[in-house]
Amino acid sequence: MTELAVSKSRGNGIPIYCLEPGQLARHKVLNQTCKTWAKANQFNGQAEKILMVPDGKGQLSSVLFGIGEGDEPLITGALASRLPKGNYKFADNPMNPELSTLGWMLGSYRFANYKKNSSGIAELILPGSIDKASLLRQAEATFLARDLINIPANDLGPTQIEQAIRKMARAFKAKVAVVKGDDLIKKNFPMIHAVGRASVDAPRLIDLKWGNAKHPKVTLVGKGVSFDTGGLNIKPGSSMALMKKDMGGAANTIALAQMIMAANLPVRLRLLVPTVENSIAGNAFRPSDILPSRKGISVEIGNTDAEGRLILGDALTLGDEEKPEMMIDMATLTGAARVALGPDLPPFYTDDDALSDEISKHAEACHDPLWRMPLWPPYQKMLRSKVADVNHISTGGFAGSITAALFLSRFVEKAQSWVHLDIFGWVPAAKPWAPVGGEAQGIRALYSVLEKRYSTD
Ligand code: BES
Ligand code: MN
Ligand code: ZN
Repeated sequence: MTELAVSKSRGNGIPIYCLEPGQLARHKVLNQTCKTWAKANQFNGQAEKILMVPDGKGQLSSVLFGIGEGDEPLITGALASRLPKGNYKFADNPMNPELSTLGWMLGSYRFANYKKNSSGIAELILPGSIDKASLLRQAEATFLARDLINIPANDLGPTQIEQAIRKMARAFKAKVAVVKGDDLIKKNFPMIHAVGRASVDAPRLIDLKWGNAKHPKVTLVGKGVSFDTGGLNIKPGSSMALMKKDMGGAANTIALAQMIMAANLPVRLRLLVPTVENSIAGNAFRPSDILPSRKGISVEIGNTDAEGRLILGDALTLGDEEKPEMMIDMATLTGAARVALGPDLPPFYTDDDALSDEISKHAEACHDPLWRMPLWPPYQKMLRSKVADVNHISTGGFAGSITAALFLSRFVEKAQSWVHLDIFGWVPAAKPWAPVGGEAQGIRALYSVLEKRYSTD
């Protein structure tokens, strides 16, 4: 994992002035030489623009940073990735100090497992006023999710996803149980088995438990498809190219679990990760197969590329059995969610209006955007099957993200609240706080909701 670009020193750093257009002329601290230098360089607070300001001897004396409209505090990530090695501090920060600091941390991420990056890093001297531990937990969780997604499937299959969860469990003294391979049949997880059995790396359900049994039960469920070929309904090359990220839901729930445990939130946490590779072999499941499920309903397979909802169905059924207060699932479930809302705004689905309002509120406050979409009951009829209790895909292909969520809802009955996030888990074009690659989506917002609900401090 990349080092978080945070300075251990408390001493002097090069001051960074964050400026909106027009602010420089009126600035009280910056002198006329600096203003003239800015003008000569056509710096006027344009978003993401960085201007290095030398002193009379050519030494770097300060940095001017354009923040545009000033509405995105995470924009400071551009500084961490572009400034030369050295110690820096925010001189005067017109934006949210917590999120500007987090933006810096997140922007310093580089995936360097296979290609070493030799350039030194710019380090930030943290402002004194902020909750440093909370920011570090958020940044470390984000880095973990990004790393897990970025590692390609030749080095990250169900086996390594299990290893990553076991490693985290050891750090927090959590318990892990795994049902693997043919035991999935014996222990009644037939859909996880069917989807994963064509892979040489055996399918499995990973079940982590942590915390005091008397605390409210919070259960996270993450889609862990280590690679999605589409199965026999094979994807064209262009659609398969990014499918190492199809364990993005698992990566995000693992990262959220880490945040919860690191903060010692008083909940009884359960993390369920069904993990498989959706592969092709003679024993692969087929379109038109009819699968049994843990829930007891029969499921007609319309398309082997809609595999995520099948493994989640069995995992959600297990999670639901102990009536958790809250069950949250995250999955890179449909291309349709991206058609509806694009890559940066994951939809979430829940029937709990109060929870929905909290999620929307915290998502906005955390700059971790999420958007509610409807579990629209009339569309349940699109999942009708002539030969089984349900078909797992909709006929006609309308409302793909909604019908996937409705399919999942068939497996959740007893949980007091359930929310499903259909995430993309990937940044297709670099942002100041995130390079192209795997991304954490929604976990900072969700953590904030859980902390508000369950923290006793
Ligand atoms: N993992 C994909 C969904 C996906 C595709 C997420 C691209 C993000 C980007 C999922 O398993 C899938 O293939 N879904 C199909 C469902 C269809 C066959 C009903 C889809 O969305 O096309
Ligand atoms: Mn698929
Ligand atoms: Zn998939």
